[in-house]
Amino acid sequence: MNISKVTAVFFSPAGGTKKVARAFVSALPYLAEDLDLTPFAKRLESRSFGGDELVVFAVPVYAGRIAPLAAERLVHMRGSRTPVVCLAVYGNRAYEDALLELTALARQKGFVPFAAAAAVTQHSIMGRVAAGRPDGQDKENLSFFARRVSTKLAEAQNPQDLTVPCVPGSLPYKPYKAVGFVPFALSSCIRCGRCAALCPAGAISLADPRQTDAARCTFCMGCVRICPVGAREVDKEKLHSAEAIFVQKFGARRELEFFL
Ligand SMILES: Cc1cc2nc3c(=O)[nH]c(=O)nc-3n(C[C@H](O)[C@H](O)[C@H](O)COP(=O)(O)O)c2cc1C
Repeated sequence: MNISKVTAVFFSPAGGTKKVARAFVSALPYLAEDLDLTPFAKRLESRSFGGDELVVFAVPVYAGRIAPLAAERLVHMRGSRTPVVCLAVYGNRAYEDALLELTALARQKGFVPFAAAAAVTQHSIMGRVAAGRPDGQDKENLSFFARRVSTKLAEAQNPQDLTVPCVPGSLPYKPYKAVGFVPFALSSCIRCGRCAALCPAGAISLADPRQTDAARCTFCMGCVRICPVGAREVDKEKLHSAEAIFVQKFGARRELEFFL
């Protein structure tokens, strides 16, 4: 198959999923562009893709499922038997039903999920878990996967020739139950509004970024990461004790798993 271009469609509040998507796409031999669906303003963005294009869906795993706001955004993507690579990006604990859910969603929307992978990044809440990832080894693994993906595409005459691999996960999906910490603004907040513009849930007031609607927050930590003066944080004591448990239970390094 001749591929005219590849579009990396991602949702990445804390930036880890974007790093994985970029590392993967940059190792593919096609002209590439990004479609970043993270900000609240992009929640209704719709896009149609042709059968000669390649799409990469990259989303974070929350509680073993696709992050709900990522799933809500992907519903507006339309394929026309468009080949898609599904990437579930997780914080070294587990990805459970996320890849199955992502590939099923892709099919419903007219894509052919002929390749899929689960990749590790730094845990966006428990930052000591998988700290510094994706690292050099991860990038090498993603490049290897990218070469396998381009070979599979080159060997196919058209999208109907692409086989769809089985991926781990089970039905019914695990009920979604994410727990986390609601970040708050410190008095050092300079009201620059970057957090409010990014917040995928629209939980931070644009008029006064010191105000957070805790009921809308999805604990994604995007605001903490983007703040230029470090003026947003979560309850540190609670975080440190939860993090210590996570490091102990889920500290052993997990590597890229891919399905072709
Ligand atoms: C609410 C929430 C739930 C999460 N649940 C999981 C999980 O079930 N398994 C896991 O390994 N990582 C989990 N993580 C970590 C993220 O999957 C991981 O850090 C991902 O890279 C975040 O993507 P981002 O950096 O692009 O925002 C969770 C993170 C958040 C914020």
